[in-house]
Amino acid sequence: MRFIDFEKEIEGKPTGLFVLSNNNGLEAVFTNFGQRLVSLLVPDKNGVFDDIVLGHSTLEEYLYPESEHYFGAIIGRYANRIANGTFVLDGKEYALVKNNGENHLHGGVKGFHTVVWETNQISANKIEFAYVSEHLEEGYPGNLKVKVAYILTEDNELKIIYEAVTDQNTVVNLTHHSYFNLKGEGKGDIGDHIIKINADYFTPLNKNMIPTGEIVSVINTSMDFTIPKSIEKHIDNKELLPTKGYDHNFILNKNQTNTEGLIFAAKVEEAITGRILEVYTSEPGMQLYSGNFLNNKTKGKNIENHLFRGGLCLETQHFPDSPNQKEFPCVILKQGEIYRSSTVYRFGTSKEKANLI
Ligand code: GLA
Repeated sequence: MRFIDFEKEIEGKPTGLFVLSNNNGLEAVFTNFGQRLVSLLVPDKNGVFDDIVLGHSTLEEYLYPESEHYFGAIIGRYANRIANGTFVLDGKEYALVKNNGENHLHGGVKGFHTVVWETNQISANKIEFAYVSEHLEEGYPGNLKVKVAYILTEDNELKIIYEAVTDQNTVVNLTHHSYFNLKGEGKGDIGDHIIKINADYFTPLNKNMIPTGEIVSVINTSMDFTIPKSIEKHIDNKELLPTKGYDHNFILNKNQTNTEGLIFAAKVEEAITGRILEVYTSEPGMQLYSGNFLNNKTKGKNIENHLFRGGLCLETQHFPDSPNQKEFPCVILKQGEIYRSSTVYRFGTSKEKANLI
């Protein structure tokens, strides 16, 4: 059995596993604990299926991680860092939980990745999760009602649609934190993955991994993925030493969209399997995180442990620390408004290149 002991009760709420599939044989397995994408089976160029996301085979390992890597989880209320765990909204200062040195990271200790979501499987290929985050949970103002839908389409896309409403002005920035390895979980690191990122600019970081506020061109830096290159090509350059590799927010160009009007964010290719992953989003930014904090200590679904840089995250998002950076796109959700965000991860192979970007 690939998965054991996911049926539990946490704080009076039932947990379990939920399987989405499409007619091409793709399969996505979720648990409602943190909306974790536990497993994702996609074919390679010869039609061989592999599980291309990092995760665990027991719920226990997600519940009590030695260190939290956010495997496959939804991230909220605010993806990435908020400097000093504070921000001012409508003249009032809010103190958030500090769980990353002096910073607030990924929604705090009890972020959305740790809560049990109410689940409604709509059909074989669609599931919805809902949660009400109470006023001042982890320090954020407003009762926030969140609804997230995942659809596995016949075009081999995993489509994520986020919605939220609040009864008081607040800040929101939701993302998805799967670690992808197109060779398959446990089959080496992602250094050899070739990636193109549709971004001419990025947001540089200070020593606390908070954006300095500058918007800098990628040209002549390690951040230039406008022409596809391998992740490993510049990953050990001096400028990436403080972050141990890629852990940066790219500002997406708005020049290319899919049929739904979502921005083309990135394309990742792996030569041996021929697998291709494309990312489209309504968000203005994307964090490329090359799994630099993975340390061979957490167990994968097969016997292998999660290697240093064994997976890469493509976290579509508003920019880190936006509540404190007035020049960045606004992340305030006002009472009466609806937060809407969508991201599509599309899986193809080198064989059907003509259909892909
Ligand atoms: C994000 C952050 C990283 C790290 C990972 C989780 O991508 O930017 O610094 O916290 O999540 O380990």
